[in-house]
Amino acid sequence: RIRSVIRGVGSYLPARIVTNDELARTIDTSDEWIRQRVGIRQRHIAAEGEFTSDLAVAAARAALDNAGYAIADIDLIIVATTTPDYTFPAAATLVQMKLGMEHGFAFDLQAVCSGFVYAVATADSYIKNGLARRVLVIGAETFSRLLDWTDRSTCVLFGDGAGAAVMERIDLEEGEPERGVLASALRSDGRHWDKLYVDGGPSTTGTTGHVHMQGPEVFRHAVGKITDVVYATLEQSGYGVGDLDWFVPHQANKRIIDGAGAKLGLPPEKVVTTVDRHANTSAASVPLALSVAVADGRIKQGDLVMIEAMGGGFTWGASLIRW
Ligand code: ACO
Repeated sequence: RIRSVIRGVGSYLPARIVTNDELARTIDTSDEWIRQRVGIRQRHIAAEGEFTSDLAVAAARAALDNAGYAIADIDLIIVATTTPDYTFPAAATLVQMKLGMEHGFAFDLQAVCSGFVYAVATADSYIKNGLARRVLVIGAETFSRLLDWTDRSTCVLFGDGAGAAVMERIDLEEGEPERGVLASALRSDGRHWDKLYVDGGPSTTGTTGHVHMQGPEVFRHAVGKITDVVYATLEQSGYGVGDLDWFVPHQANKRIIDGAGAKLGLPPEKVVTTVDRHANTSAASVPLALSVAVADGRIKQGDLVMIEAMGGGFTWGASLIRW
């Protein structure tokens, strides 16, 4: 029985922290409004000349260290991102080069905020099909570059950062208990594409564009879609909500996280939350939150961990992992 386990995690946040008060100096907003509506206190913003692949490389190095592996041990790199350095090549091949990896293969995965969850499920499939043995799964974003900094309804919500996990094939012995990725469920529904999108791209405007969002519509869909996919994942694996040790949601917004937690009947102390410090870092948010909870000793070997995300597309998904 081939399984994929998470051997190590790591993360990176750009040095510059921008507080709500700092934003309130240039746009008509307030620390109180932002904290109350979305639970964000601050966000990290990449420096000029600091690119998504740089953030990804820093997170990847931290994850390799945590796993006790060198880049030579990796045979696949998946970078989940909406903000690649260039239209092409993939940020993943730049990460491959910067890490000094001359073997294996690398590609980007675009599922916006659900990118890391999609990438975990993708790496799990590649491992189970024998295409890869050890995979660096990275979520990395310089989302600040997609924001219109005069649009208060979107620019206060997002931040930059990267997180990574090293996933590895194990072959379970007869009678050995299940571990690693136990089940995943992925969904998308393109009918909702214009509820959250960037109004640019190589095939339309030839420009990068800015984030546009129908906030209340996104909110309306988020909690139901998240809970559906969490239940679908639990059902596949035969576990219930009460069995979860940790719930590590996409860090979009405190109200969405609290709403999903309450609907699932999860005690708040089992929910890992970093949105207050990191804001919404899109594909980086789940691995950033995982890194925080592993580093502070909450997530330990043997724990049952549910990750989930929902984002533009809409895309959404969840994975249940025995750590
Ligand atoms: N500061 C002050 N006022 C603001 C700000 C701001 N930063 N942004 C909007 N407002 C104002 C609006 O202009 C509006 O004013 P008006 O009534 O005078 O027109 C008022 O606040 C209310 O606006 P609404 O959009 O109706 O506010 P709502 O209560 O729906 O909250 C919010 C907006 C917080 C964005 C909410 O819709 C939400 O949480 N949506 C989910 C969005 C999200 O998390 N997206 C992340 C990407 S998706 C994902 O990752 C899952």
